[in-house]
Amino acid sequence: MTREIIIAPSILAADFARLGEEIAAIDAAGADWIHCDVMDGHFVPNISFGAEIIKAIRPMTKKIFDVHLMIAPVDPYLEAFAKSGADVIAVHAEAGPHLDRSLQAIRALGKKAGVSLCPSTPESAIEYVLDRLDLVLVMTVNPGFGGQSFLGSQLEKIARIRNMIGERPIRLEVDGGVTRDNATAIAAAGADTLVAGSAVFRGNNSADYAANIAAIRTAAEAGLVPKRHDSSAQPVRAGERVLVR
Ligand code: DX5
Ligand code: ZN
Repeated sequence: MTREIIIAPSILAADFARLGEEIAAIDAAGADWIHCDVMDGHFVPNISFGAEIIKAIRPMTKKIFDVHLMIAPVDPYLEAFAKSGADVIAVHAEAGPHLDRSLQAIRALGKKAGVSLCPSTPESAIEYVLDRLDLVLVMTVNPGFGGQSFLGSQLEKIARIRNMIGERPIRLEVDGGVTRDNATAIAAAGADTLVAGSAVFRGNNSADYAANIAAIRTAAEAGLVPKRHDSSAQPVRAGERVLVR
């Protein structure tokens, strides 16, 4: 039994002066999703870009736009990100007091709903919203910056969340410090969607990016061998493929 690995390059590591070209390059290089890291300088100690930038780059590819909102408050901005062309919108469980409401709002806007957990947040934060989720995003660095080292403490959380998901059609995404060297362990713990910024945008052309994406994918697929805790893993369902363009 296998799950399909999705590789989502984070454009935070792209050359912003050539952002349109960089999107085209990772599209051609085999990226499955385009991961967009939105930072507000308040919820996280860095500012990146907002809905207008996402709207501007949306025409560069037909791939899924996976928008990771590291902003608080988040609810007032959900509509703008939905209109910018996001396909999946993930909010942080720590970003506001009404996670259930935020997730309902994302689905009401016609988008796939995700929740992200900082490294210190336990998996119990999502226990009562599982049926409102299309994606769980486990942060394996403290959010705010690319290029940080992977926190191995999160592997246990990933495995626990895989068990919580059970047979629900929810993707389990890992974000922060992902490389070809740790992708096998990440997938073996139960993740099926890997974000990578600096490990993808190494080199300076589409061929380099393709080699980087392929190496991460190959390593992740090696970790997909079913394990005891993974006994509930199911083959990819037709409905789930909607998230893969
Ligand atoms: C961190 C972001 C990540 C980050 C990943 O706040 O959410 O997406 O950019 O970058 P790397 O892969 O370089 O850790
Ligand atoms: Zn991210």
